[in-house]
Amino acid sequence: DPADLATGRGGGVHEASRAAIAARHLRTDRWWLAPALTAAGLLAFVVYSTWRAFSNSDYYAAPYVSPFYSPCLAENCVPMKAGPNWEIFGSWWGLSPALLILIFPLGFRLTCYYYRKAYYRGFWASPPACAVAEPHRKYTGETRFPLVLQNIHRYFFYAALPVAGILTYDTVLAFRDASYAWGHAGLGTVVFLVNIVLIWAYTFSCHSCRHIVGGRLRHFSRHPVRYRLWGLVGRLNDHHMLLAWTSLFSVAFADFYVYLLATGTFDDPRIF
Ligand code: FES
Repeated sequence: DPADLATGRGGGVHEASRAAIAARHLRTDRWWLAPALTAAGLLAFVVYSTWRAFSNSDYYAAPYVSPFYSPCLAENCVPMKAGPNWEIFGSWWGLSPALLILIFPLGFRLTCYYYRKAYYRGFWASPPACAVAEPHRKYTGETRFPLVLQNIHRYFFYAALPVAGILTYDTVLAFRDASYAWGHAGLGTVVFLVNIVLIWAYTFSCHSCRHIVGGRLRHFSRHPVRYRLWGLVGRLNDHHMLLAWTSLFSVAFADFYVYLLATGTFDDPRIF
């Protein structure tokens, strides 16, 4: 409100202490494109993964098990001869077994520094883009509940490690044919391989990982191994956004590939 602006009563960027610029921004480029694409991409993933996680079907096509359903922790999993199947939750769990395990990779991504930036901009317009004023009147950052909980990201990093380990195990099991004979590979094996490489690259490029590996050291010279690892993680970290998107796409695609096989829409082409 220009009246607020004149009196300094407006909130947010129109506080009296801020420069009195009436325009919401002075950018002339298509600054809205990146947040719009981000929101569309994330929304597509949320819709797809929600459908698949709740569907509780078509997640196994020998020898492949969908990454959304591995490891299977309840008794109601389809009988699988591939992939870890630990019935920790027994028979009382009646919902989709994917819900038990997806909490960890989803929590990891939801609290990820990159995704935070992405959805704060894409969905909350806080701020919509660099040098574009946000519409909110108050800004408390991540200092209050519930956003202060984003700090648990480092613990989700530890939880993401065994999940990536299990998906690696599933990828090794993918070197079998549909009758579980070893030494074979299909197109699905390639899909799983690409996915697991991207998952590990995304996981190791995590900012928390970078801190765990090379943080809190006074002298890099006294910790040459950690220094080297920190350099490697740093190089991956430069591409964290790209790895976040490519691994998000690859994990959804690996699941979709298993879905196509399980529903009989498609036959896995044999490579060797
Ligand atoms: Fe993105 Fe940790 S900061 S996964």
